[in-house]
Amino acid sequence: MVRISENINLAEYTSFGAHATATRMVEWSTTNELLAYLASDEGKEHLSDRWTILGEGCNTLFTKDFLGTIIRSTAKGITITEESAEHTTIRVAAGEVWDDVVAWSTERGLWGMENLSAIPSSVGASAVQNIGAYGTEAKDVIESVEVVMLDTLTTENIPSSKCKFGYRESIFKEELAGKAIITAVTYRLSKSATPRLDYGTLRPEVERTGDYTPQGIRNAVRAIRDSKLPDPKKIGNAGSFFKNPILPREQVERLKAQYPTMPVYDVAEESDKLKIATGWMIDSLGWKGKALGRAGVHANQALVLINLGGATGEEVMALANRICGEVKDKFGVDISPEVNVL
Ligand code: EPU
Repeated sequence: MVRISENINLAEYTSFGAHATATRMVEWSTTNELLAYLASDEGKEHLSDRWTILGEGCNTLFTKDFLGTIIRSTAKGITITEESAEHTTIRVAAGEVWDDVVAWSTERGLWGMENLSAIPSSVGASAVQNIGAYGTEAKDVIESVEVVMLDTLTTENIPSSKCKFGYRESIFKEELAGKAIITAVTYRLSKSATPRLDYGTLRPEVERTGDYTPQGIRNAVRAIRDSKLPDPKKIGNAGSFFKNPILPREQVERLKAQYPTMPVYDVAEESDKLKIATGWMIDSLGWKGKALGRAGVHANQALVLINLGGATGEEVMALANRICGEVKDKFGVDISPEVNVL
């Protein structure tokens, strides 16, 4: 049976730690349990009203009380589903903590997840958000995503090629938003060495230790992240608050002519577009380490907004909106949140 609790303090379930209350939370630990709930009168009543899914709560900001149902998976388990000379394929329940799965894979010397170490996320959210860091995205290792379809109450296994993965985008944020609940994700990991060290300061950090194993790369990524990103257990935050905009090449070339030090990245899927660094723009506006009320900009990485203690979601949004306006005024660029604002 699912576990239903009422009057939930969302500060305990979100990494921002901003206070807000939800009417109820429904926690499920097996797909059958979830299906039985969805088919029940109670489930139908709850889902006929406002509802949303929360994973580890590391990418969601509640700006007001949530008058509705929060659905959360506590499903755990990593199962090897296929083993060949080249690959190990694993099926992981949606409620597993992402970084526990990365640790599991690197401890076994398997390749593919190491660059995505220490990203706060659940397994379900890794697919929704196509989480990414250091030149790797979750889609590079996702083979398929299992969901429960809410209209038919059946399960489906959606192959990665149909998930419409893009930069922090997927079908689960678009066509299937509100229509499907992810129950498990299957990842394909490689047994042969496939290190990807070309992003930013990763290579020098790995060279420094000389450990080129998945575990060594995991340790290097953790060291870089620790130096730049605040620990959500100590300072409320949701990682990058904004996305890096992907803009037409001509627009980026004009910006680059005006601001020669602006970092620019290729976008694999789109050759006529380039990605620019929002963190660099916010930094150049002088926001790093500054605050507006109880919400601030992290001193080591301008892309990360932080809760300085007791900030409400509205205060964080006031800061975010102010920054968006200043970026637009100076660079003529619209930036949008990566964080899911509710
Ligand atoms: N930069 C600055 N000042 C800053 C921040 C960045 O000048 O305050 C410059 C950096 O020097 C670098 C460029 O901007 O030249 C890009 O910065 P960085 O490599 O730190 O990465 P990012 O673009 O800021 C993205 C992801 C992060 C991910 C890193 C590393 C997004 C929105 N963010 O950040 O993901 O860890 O790359 O791969 O794409 C997250 O999604 O929550 C997240 C932390």
